[in-house]
Amino acid sequence: MTSSETLRDAWYVAAYTSELEEKGMIATTLLGDPIVIYAKTDGSPVALEDRCVHRLAPLSLGRVEGDHLRCMYHGMLFSAEGAALEIPGQDLIPKRACVRSYPVVERSGWLWVWPGNPERADEALVPPVIGMRHPDWFLHEGLLDYDASSDLIITNVIDLGHLTWVHRESFGADEAWAETVPTTSPIERGVRVTRWLREIPPIPPLGKAADHERLDHWTTFDFFAPGVFHFYNAMYPVGTYDKYAGGEPDRADETLLYEHYTQQFVMPMTEQKSRYFFTWGPSTRVGNAEEGAIMREVNYQAFAEDQAIIEAQQKIINLDPSRRPMPTVHDKAVTLYEGIVRKLVREQNAALGAAPALEQAG
Ligand code: FES
Ligand SMILES: [Fe+2]
Repeated sequence: MTSSETLRDAWYVAAYTSELEEKGMIATTLLGDPIVIYAKTDGSPVALEDRCVHRLAPLSLGRVEGDHLRCMYHGMLFSAEGAALEIPGQDLIPKRACVRSYPVVERSGWLWVWPGNPERADEALVPPVIGMRHPDWFLHEGLLDYDASSDLIITNVIDLGHLTWVHRESFGADEAWAETVPTTSPIERGVRVTRWLREIPPIPPLGKAADHERLDHWTTFDFFAPGVFHFYNAMYPVGTYDKYAGGEPDRADETLLYEHYTQQFVMPMTEQKSRYFFTWGPSTRVGNAEEGAIMREVNYQAFAEDQAIIEAQQKIINLDPSRRPMPTVHDKAVTLYEGIVRKLVREQNAALGAAPALEQAG
């Protein structure tokens, strides 16, 4: 995945911070690059190419020594910047005895890695996140691996019209999701999608929402490049859509029956392998930790439904990759998002001094 069409100048979620705390070292793959993440003595993360410069063994099978990492094949020692510090039995350390180092930051329970040009790695570009231990939410973490391109997962998430067809079992979604066309607008490095679903069954039927067979459901999500999804849902008694004339409801409205929030990240590991990180849960205002745990299970059921259709879709696409999709009215946000990613890739390539390959292709 070294193509000039790939967005590398961006922060990607690579792991939960808790995984690093538990294991001390993580081996992963991002955009085809093998990456090892370990913690320095002060706890700060280091991300290095997981491929020793000597005989290309994985450094993730090595040993952390203070702030350094030793390859446990023939013992080369690397600094947190990726430079070889020791070559056992050899005094001279050649300049090229180094592995690539990646910018990495910890933010609110996730480790974010920048696989592109380190000079452009601006921490201010990490998208806003609500941490797992945020006091206003009962969030639970989940993770799923897909044998599919991250693009297929992203288009699945951005077009929630699929809930009607894919998630009738898990979420109890009815026709409203497919029949309502949301409002779409561009935001900085992303897209915002909002809509009311009127008189639908509660999703999920928990808390006060469980007392209502039908209710008015407000949804809004921001999807940031690359693959960062923030989705807020609030349920009110039938008639609330009219009360707000179809506009955004006041979150402090006392008639609120239930509200929940999910944050999801799509990590492209290779061309056709992706890792999906997700959280979901109710606010502390309407729900409790037990309901958060129930929602986590529903989420796993729902994402297994997504996984089945997306992996099958990938297999069909592979039979003839030249076939292009035909967008419908539900793809407005997808099209907008793809345009935003293309623009970021053009900026990335221009910064590299590379030819704008996408424009040439178009
Ligand atoms: S492969 Fe790492 S020291 Fe030989
Ligand atoms: Fe889905």
